[in-house]
Amino acid sequence: MKVTIVGAGNVGATCADVISYRGIASEVVLLDIKEGFAEGKAMDIMQCSTTTGFNTVVSGSTNDYSKTAKSDVVVITSGIPRKPGMTREELIGINAGIVKSVAVNILEHSPDAIIVVVSNPMDTMTYLTLKATGLPKNRVIGMGGALDSSRFKYFLSQALQKPSNDVQGMVIGGHGDTTMIPLTRLASYNGSPVANFLSQEEMDKVAASTMVGGATLTGLLGTSAWYAPGASVAFLVDSILNNQKRMIPCSVMLDGEYGQSDICIGVPCIIGRNGVEQIVDVKLNDAEKALFAKSAEAVRNMNADLKSVL
Ligand code: NAI
Ligand code: 2OP
Repeated sequence: MKVTIVGAGNVGATCADVISYRGIASEVVLLDIKEGFAEGKAMDIMQCSTTTGFNTVVSGSTNDYSKTAKSDVVVITSGIPRKPGMTREELIGINAGIVKSVAVNILEHSPDAIIVVVSNPMDTMTYLTLKATGLPKNRVIGMGGALDSSRFKYFLSQALQKPSNDVQGMVIGGHGDTTMIPLTRLASYNGSPVANFLSQEEMDKVAASTMVGGATLTGLLGTSAWYAPGASVAFLVDSILNNQKRMIPCSVMLDGEYGQSDICIGVPCIIGRNGVEQIVDVKLNDAEKALFAKSAEAVRNMNADLKSVL
């Protein structure tokens, strides 16, 4: 199985690293526009193979899409972060141009690939990729909910003082500080609602920490995070390539589900070899439904900035 990752920066290279050492794919191609950068990252990862013992072949390419041919999954992490003084519209304009041209190039060489969109603003870039390529909606998946859910479970485990693997939970809605919705009511510690162990105040604190999880790390690191983002993409790719049919919150095109249409936003999905195989209807209560509608409105406003690109 072959995976291409466009953008060999922090998230892309970490994703390649996790895919390799976990043996998720037999071949990984890293592609970047920076001369020699992807080749260097690929060589560095390959030099781990003897010590960590993996067989995945990782190679790099400077903007040569022929090397990506016949990929089963393509991950798009290319883009720029927001710089001081830059408006959101300017960022969307630049990243939309990059994501759109990457998607078109990719499909020329891998017409059957499933595309995983990571570049921010992710929900809007996922929507753009679908519209620009005309691909069926099962083949374009935005990654954000997997990461936000892993942060949610981490903060829950810290509050519970229990191992994170014993905690279940999910974050839906937009991938943004104010748009994501940690579903605290449905979170559990080994099947027991977390409300049995945490006060409302503690649960609210966990939700708040989750929502600013990305921003907190950006403040500490000086750029956005990459270990958990890269691992979350690899987790999603694993479910696709190895047909695991895991339920993962992903940004996907809605057509009436959760009361929304013509929008890509995070909802629980069954992810397998065909990409999005099912959108799971988790019954939300009225307060959660209202939060989801508000989140969708914010994502839709952001999508309006795509007018010049679409
Ligand atoms: P980075 O700056 O380390 O890497 C981006 C790479 O893209 C650079 O190496 C750059 O040369 C490359 N690139 C730019 N234009 C390109 C093009 N046209 N073709 C090929 N490569 C190109 O950034 P990082 O930290 O890896 O983040 C990547 C993106 O992912 C950002 O937009 C970031 O906001 C987003 N992100 C999204 C997350 C999510 O959960 N959806 C989580 C973390 C980051
Ligand atoms: C994150 O959540 C910024 O989307 C990036 O870390």
